[in-house]
Amino acid sequence: MASSIFFSPAANAVTVPIRFTATATAATPTPTPRLVLVRANNASASASGPTLTLEECEAAAVAGNFPAPPPHSKPPGPKGTPLIKPLDLTRRPRRNRKSPTLRSAFQETTLSPANFVLPLFIHEGEEDAPIGAMPGCFRLGWRHGLMDEVYKARDVGVNSFVLFPKIPDALKSPTGDEAYNDNGLVPRTIRLLKDKFPDIVIYTDVALDPYSSDGHDGIVREDGVIMNDETVHQLCKQAVSQARAGADVVSPSDMMDGRVGALRAALDAEGFHDVSIMSYTAKYASAFYGPFREALDSNPRFGDKKTYQMNPANYREALIEAQADEAEGADILLVKPGLPYTDVIRLLRDNSALPIAAYQVSGEYSMIKAAGVLKMIDEERVMMESLMCIRRAGADIILSYFARQAAGILCGAKSN
Ligand code: PBG
Repeated sequence: MASSIFFSPAANAVTVPIRFTATATAATPTPTPRLVLVRANNASASASGPTLTLEECEAAAVAGNFPAPPPHSKPPGPKGTPLIKPLDLTRRPRRNRKSPTLRSAFQETTLSPANFVLPLFIHEGEEDAPIGAMPGCFRLGWRHGLMDEVYKARDVGVNSFVLFPKIPDALKSPTGDEAYNDNGLVPRTIRLLKDKFPDIVIYTDVALDPYSSDGHDGIVREDGVIMNDETVHQLCKQAVSQARAGADVVSPSDMMDGRVGALRAALDAEGFHDVSIMSYTAKYASAFYGPFREALDSNPRFGDKKTYQMNPANYREALIEAQADEAEGADILLVKPGLPYTDVIRLLRDNSALPIAAYQVSGEYSMIKAAGVLKMIDEERVMMESLMCIRRAGADIILSYFARQAAGILCGAKSN
């Protein structure tokens, strides 16, 4: 491009020939071709003074004598391009997309590592164990692997984490009492993390499924009914135990009715007024959770979660949940899954002033990973686009297994 010569990073100054023509004023000396130094930055400008004074330059401009501008020409279309009369358009939206600078100036949505929350699987082991259905994800040893992962995530600007424990079968029970063991895997891990990284934000999952011998988020009655209020009682104990260990945000993912208000009251009663509640407001009964359940070995032993998680066909129902959560004191409303439910994210964004979170769940992650490995899609670009789309839909924060990988890209060279 011709104009780039003026700002060539390789040289501070470039010489531009100025031609004076015969129409120069009488005061102008005999026209001779001259070379003028055009400085591209101020640092070098003081090295030697300008060759022409401002008055001389202005006089030359008034007389119509300027340096010949670089030629500007549009290359022709390929052979065979039809010769047409241009369309008479008032609007040509492509004008605002014609260069990387214009495109980035008009970009409406941005992604930043500050928007990400990284979900981490932890277990009692010393070694990290790969999760078959989630390439690149591991059940991390809570004392070593987890600390390494948090360290690396912080390095690329991810400072928020949500913990999911893989609980030994022997500690599971129908009432999930291990969920509020102050020395259980989650509270123990929170204390260690807070000790090593005092400034990180720790989100916890509040639900019984990792602790339930039935693999359900609540207590299961003999006839298969998930008991609402009794489950909420357990969840309150779980959240208080997590808060006691140092959790910053407790996140009920169980979908019991009334749990947000009950958690708020339980936390306040114990003096945890500063612990936030991120409610899984619109959590759908989704097949996209499959890989996660493999990771935690938390598949329901029977039946499904349709009596508490929402029907994927429903939209308005998300408003009912949002209104209840807001009234009960939720600090953040979450939609889950993410990409297939961007309409619901937008619905909550437009109907609440609270921050909105979206969870790009395990199935979404694994689909992109698998198609990337098979070279069917460009994994990195699809990853970044999917995260951007979730932000565009209205999510402030995104829980994503891609958080560290995506933040790494955001920290490195940006491409348009
Ligand atoms: C359970 C819970 C689930 C997820 C987060 N918390 C699974 C479920 O509801 O069965 C799914 C997350 C994912 O798929 O990445 N309380």
